Amino acid sequence: MPRKDLLDISSLSREEIDHLLDQSVPFKELFTRSVKKVPALKGKSVLMLFYEPSTRTHSSFEVAAKRLSADVTNFDVAHSSITKGESVRETVETLQAMRTDFIIVRHARSGLPGMIAKQTRASVINAGDGAHAHPTQALLDAFTIKEKFPDPVGKKVLIIGDILHSRVARSTSTILKKIGVDVAYLGPGSLVPQKGPEGIRRFTSYQEAMAWSPDVIYLLRVQMERQEAQFFPSLREYHRLYGITDARLAEIRQRGLYLMHPGPVNRGVELCDAVMDYERSLINDQVENGIAVRMAVLYWLKPDAGSES
Ligand code: CP
Repeated sequence: MPRKDLLDISSLSREEIDHLLDQSVPFKELFTRSVKKVPALKGKSVLMLFYEPSTRTHSSFEVAAKRLSADVTNFDVAHSSITKGESVRETVETLQAMRTDFIIVRHARSGLPGMIAKQTRASVINAGDGAHAHPTQALLDAFTIKEKFPDPVGKKVLIIGDILHSRVARSTSTILKKIGVDVAYLGPGSLVPQKGPEGIRRFTSYQEAMAWSPDVIYLLRVQMERQEAQFFPSLREYHRLYGITDARLAEIRQRGLYLMHPGPVNRGVELCDAVMDYERSLINDQVENGIAVRMAVLYWLKPDAGSES
């Protein structure tokens, strides 16, 4: 049953997740063809409403929408009336009058995409809201893991870093658990909340986490902009305790583990330069798969019929 909006992973059923992951496969196959475009959303309009910076998610949604033949408008927040004090509600009312079919929203405030979804007939896709959710990142991560492990049940993914402030950790661990993957968190005690999703092991020691024998190591960006307090002594100390150093990369290579990162990366903090050339790094696969998964999401969602344009 298609939905109007995609706001988080928690509310998706296993069947819906499987459908979206399966539907992403033929969209990815399109990328190898000389013509990468299909007319699936011809005549539909997609509005990108990004109140926070983004490289991957923004460009990936734009490419995905264009490959489905939709018309894409980038709402330029920096030069809009928002800078004159216009509220999000007023902005969305204005956009509603334009009868756009899809609104893709990123905002620092958790829950804001959900609020917009109630206000508009357009399909709203959460492209990241505060520390709450980043559902399409989770879908692309699950898709990338399933490419390497078609039956992912019982595989182990170790998520390292700033779990506390990370919408990626929240959404990606939720989807991985839903498809049967074992998840563990590793990071400084101050950044690995003990409350939260159950059935996830928490480590503060890199050695103990590696003794758990993960199949995939998923590095998170240290989000300095979301840290209102000092959660660890210094970035150098963070790298020493939790970063993928040259020595740790050698062990990871020897064990044949896959490495993932949602980007953007902080070189010298969560990873050393050599990780970017590691043969089992899936970072570029994540970027490519993001387009296929977002095409599947756009194709699946159904804007309210009243928004016919
Ligand atoms: N992964 C991710 O959300 O990256 P951007 O901030 O570049 O969109």
